[in-house]
Amino acid sequence: MGHRVLSTRGRLPGTGLERLASRAELVRGPDSAKPAAADLEALAAGASGILCLGNDRVDAALLDAAGPQLRVVSLASMGFDAVDQAAAAERGIVVTHTPGVLAETTADLAWSLILFARRRLGAARDQLHAGEWTAFHMDGNLGLDVHGATLGLIGYGQIGRAVARRAAGFGVRVLCHDPYSAPEDGLAQPVDFATLLSEADIISLHVPLTDATRHLIGEAELRAMKQTATLVNTSRGGVVDEKALLAALRDGTIHSAGLDVFEREPRGADVADLVAESRLVALPHVGSATEATRAAMVDLAVDNLLAVLAGEPAHTPLPG
Ligand code: DGY
Repeated sequence: MGHRVLSTRGRLPGTGLERLASRAELVRGPDSAKPAAADLEALAAGASGILCLGNDRVDAALLDAAGPQLRVVSLASMGFDAVDQAAAAERGIVVTHTPGVLAETTADLAWSLILFARRRLGAARDQLHAGEWTAFHMDGNLGLDVHGATLGLIGYGQIGRAVARRAAGFGVRVLCHDPYSAPEDGLAQPVDFATLLSEADIISLHVPLTDATRHLIGEAELRAMKQTATLVNTSRGGVVDEKALLAALRDGTIHSAGLDVFEREPRGADVADLVAESRLVALPHVGSATEATRAAMVDLAVDNLLAVLAGEPAHTPLPG
């Protein structure tokens, strides 16, 4: 049945995986849990293509365990920070990802976090759940307005632009900073990094995690923000120094934050301090988690994998 391919998860949203199974000999990883590195290496042996998720570590050991016939690693994710790109390039392996199909859904989630964090809705909901809503207080659960605020987007690629498009309905002015992508849509005013930090009421991060963006937001950057600022991160946890953020929320350096991503994921008890902070809204990495979008990500990943195995160019290879 042609090529042997590995999907690191045995079950994925939509019909993409069944389509792949009809076109190749499909080896399936565990249904939905992340396989351990050693198990992944054993499963990969003999595969010409690997379909994996953004949190699967794709390193030289995995590529070598697959063998010299491996031609493509297709990520069903936009983020590719867990891939050793140099190791793949040295072995002539094409790596693909899934930009485009998740931008709108992730932008919706960024706005959810903006609204929840700025209006302190998480703390208000917790109060209700705890049975502590016993009276109406004129000065209770006060947040800050979203309408009329200035939004600063760090990173102005597909997701940043989708966030900007939603701003008009809130009467929000948009600033952006992106060294690689100049806005042409008239929706955001490009500014330098320092201006964005000091002028924005809401700062939303839309950059990939690279050596250049790791801890892009740390103590100094938090101090440069307004005391009334809200920081939202739906990109990668490592872009923000979590310890510095927790300190900044506790001492009132900034007003609030919304995080969908963490420096290490998944997180349990070790993130309790952050999650318990009443000025932080935290979610377990659900930016692209809708039925349609996750199915579209799998479809695109399958299309990329099949294209490369057929000797055609990938639809969405990793940039540059
Ligand atoms: C992405 O596509 O990068 C999302 O974070 C899901 O992995």
